[in-house]
Formats: sequence, C-alpha cells, structure tokens
Amino acid sequence: MTVTLNPALDLTYAVDELRPHTTHRVRAVHERPGGKGLNVASVLHAQGEAVLATGLLGRATGSAVQALVDAAGLPSAFAPIAGETRRTVTIADGADATGLWEPGPVVGGAEWDGFVAHYRRLLDDARVVALSGSLPRGLPPDAYAILIRAARARGVPTVLDTSGEPLRLGLAAGPDLAKPNAEELATLLGPGAGPAAVRGLVAAGCGAVVVSRGPRGLLAVSGAGAWEAAPPAAVTGNPTGAGDACVAALARGLRDRTPWPELLADAVALSAAAVAAPVAGAVDTAHYRDLRARIAVTPVPQTEEHNPC
Ligand SMILES: Nc1ncnc2c1ncn2[C@@H]1O[C@H](COP(=O)(O)OP(=O)(O)OP(=O)(O)O)[C@@H](O)[C@H]1O
Ligand SMILES: [Mg+2]
Repeated sequence: MTVTLNPALDLTYAVDELRPHTTHRVRAVHERPGGKGLNVASVLHAQGEAVLATGLLGRATGSAVQALVDAAGLPSAFAPIAGETRRTVTIADGADATGLWEPGPVVGGAEWDGFVAHYRRLLDDARVVALSGSLPRGLPPDAYAILIRAARARGVPTVLDTSGEPLRLGLAAGPDLAKPNAEELATLLGPGAGPAAVRGLVAAGCGAVVVSRGPRGLLAVSGAGAWEAAPPAAVTGNPTGAGDACVAALARGLRDRTPWPELLADAVALSAAAVAAPVAGAVDTAHYRDLRARIAVTPVPQTEEHNPC
C-alpha cells in the first residue's frame, strides 16, 4: 500500500521557448497523476505487484487525478477532502524546465482523523506500507509517525520517504526503513555527519536507513550491517522519480524479506531504469532486466570512516 497525503495533478506544457513576460502558445499538454506515493504505486503496478494507492484527494482536481489513476488501472482507495488538490505545472522548452507548484489544500483536523481511521482499515490487507512525500498544510508534523505506529501495531512494515520535520518525527516512530537522499540526510543530521550518525538513527529505532546518492547509488545501514550498491555507470535521462522507484523496490523487498545485497541490487537497477524512462512513475523494463545482474554490492566495514552524503 502506498500513501500520498499531498498528491497533485502534474501538468506539463511544452512550449518552443520560455520567455518571461510574454504569452506562449502551448504546443502540447500532458497530464499525469503526481505525488511520490503515486509514483511508487505506478512502478509497482507496472512490475505486476498487487498495490493499493491511498491518500487524500479533493474537488475537481482531485477527481481529475482519480480519473487518471483509474484509467491507468491502478487500484486506489483515496479519502475525499473539502480542499482542492494541487496542480504542479512544468513548462518545458527545448532547453530546460520551469516549475510552478500550487500550495495545495489545507486539511482539517476531522479530515485527518477520518483518514487515519480509513488507513487503519486498509492495513488489514496490507503487507507493507510506503509513506512518501511532503505533508499538506493542516496536518500535524508527526503525521507519518502516527501512520508508522498504526502499521506497527498491526504488524505491517513501513518505508518512509520524506524530508525535514516530518522525516525527523517519523524516524522517532521507528519505521522499518527510511530512504532519505543525501541532501535530506545532510539537512537532518547536519553537514559533515558521518556513518556513526547514520548508525545512530538505526540504534535509535529506525530498522534501516538507505541513503540514495543519485548516480552513485545507495548506502544502506541496518542492524545486520552496511552495504554500498552502485550502478555500473550513470544513466542519462530524467532523474525525477528515481527515488520513488527505489522506494518501490525497497518496499517489495521488505514484504518478501529479500536478503540485503539482493534487495539493494534490485533497488539500484529499478531506480536506474526509472531514470531511463521519460516520466516519473515509469521504468524502462528492458533496462531494468539488463542492469539487474550487473549491480555491484559491497559490504562496508563498521570501522570504515565513510561519509554517507
Ligand atoms: N543518473 C543516474 N544513473 C543511474 N542511477 C541513478 C541515477 N540517478 C539516480 N539513480 C538511482 O536512483 C536512486 C535514487 O536517486 P536519487 O538519490 O536522486 O533520489 P531522490 O533524490 O530521492 O529522487 P526523487 O525524490 O526525485 O525521486 C539512486 O540511489 C540511484 O540508485
Ligand atoms: Mg526523493
């Protein structure tokens, strides 16, 4: 099950050349369901895994996201809210992309309580939960901590992928796995934090920390040891959503109790294959199959002073 508390309707406008202070004729409009948890769900669905996407959707934009989710055949059980789901607009010209992110809805206290009750019911059929992305306004900063504790009470493992205060408070609830990228980890632990600080997170109750480092791959620290896993070469393409494909693989591996080296190789291959696919939430399947057997995974000795960032 994937949780997306702040989903979006992702709109991409293709223009010839973006020039501020002028009017543009948009050549093509692309719409897709956005939000990190939805990307995780899309990747797992494309991999043939049974997945359910939940979260919050509101009003006309929420209905548009729901329609796109349904059209993709992605099973979902979103809870309705009164506020309007946000749109994230990307203006792409040949050279670059410019983003305009709407602020999104303010979620009321009763709506949040209703979602938590809905989520608890869904946990009955879940074997692993991925909690991804930012929180909408109005939610308590410990929203993920609440969802992690509820899952643990039912014996369902959790993967947490967020940043800032929701990450700090979520870690305190002891998720089975957290997947910060190097920048999110540096913000959390302070610049120059070393492996001892990451091991400290594990000692404090987070089952495992898997740090993603862009083309350099993953560094994983768990109670069982530490490993590095890297692709044979950097892939050129669209890195947005690579972290979500990584979370998809980690969640699947947690469900299946896949041994660490195999789990990390799978996560590196699936996320590199996401870079090779043009849009977030998709993977290049041929690329994934080709890479899967070619990922180097190396144990990192506890004593090695290795900077995780
Ligand atoms: N250019 C690349 N080539 C190969 N693999 C990549 C590349 N970029 C990312 N990856 C893989 O994807 C994983 C996740 O990427 P990254 O660290 O950028 O995540 P992220 O910042 O959380 O991304 P996002 O939140 O946008 O999905 C990396 O650990 C790596 O395995
Ligand atoms: Mg990320």
